[in-house]
Amino acid sequence: MSKKIITLIVGIVIVVCCVGCSNNNSNKTNTTENQNNNETQEENINNNDKKIAVIYFSATGTTKKVAEYIQNTTNSDLIEIIPKEKYTDSDLNYENNNSRANKEQNDSKARPEIKNTINTDNYDIIYLGYPIWWGDVPKIILTFLDNHNLNGKTVIPFCTSGSSPISNSLNTLKNYNSDINWLDGKRFSSNTTQDEISSWIKN
Ligand SMILES: Cc1cc2nc3c(=O)[nH]c(=O)nc-3n(C[C@H](O)[C@H](O)[C@H](O)COP(=O)(O)O)c2cc1C
Repeated sequence: MSKKIITLIVGIVIVVCCVGCSNNNSNKTNTTENQNNNETQEENINNNDKKIAVIYFSATGTTKKVAEYIQNTTNSDLIEIIPKEKYTDSDLNYENNNSRANKEQNDSKARPEIKNTINTDNYDIIYLGYPIWWGDVPKIILTFLDNHNLNGKTVIPFCTSGSSPISNSLNTLKNYNSDINWLDGKRFSSNTTQDEISSWIKN
């Protein structure tokens, strides 16, 4: 066989091998892409399957605004915990030892009544919002926990405050009912923006 023919045969063999390899690789890439798409879709379906509620108490509107931002970002229902007896300005005067809010916070048995009926049965995930009162949850949040069986549900606390962190209130909530799957949650200030809330939810 002449040198030219041998070179030609070797060349054809190399070209055939390369085409085969590249097809294999692109098939592998497509398969991996398909798997990733399926996983992403499954995650989306799972997330969409979960029903979310944003449930909050707000005496002066700051926590309400944060709750609305959370609702805007999540596909959820917004539910207010409305006190049977509305808190007046003098009820909220924390400089007066005898103000209603201060007396409630100092009384371990205080459970201020809730005006509205809240049905939590259909929700898998609940964002639970409140203002910090004396470093802790307002007692009406404990009334809410007494009245609703959230065992096994995921609850994400969020709060607003002048400066106090969420940590102490988280301990109260976790100790109050350890059958709830409490996530660590977050504290927000009165200047919180929709963008800040959206990036918290997405991360
Ligand atoms: C009775 C009472 C106690 C408070 N205690 C604290 C506190 O311990 N630490 C803090 O940073 N802010 C405290 N604040 C301020 C509130 O947490 C803050 O203004 C909150 O954003 C109000 O939320 P709201 O408008 O949703 O009721 C207190 C407010 C009241 C009325």
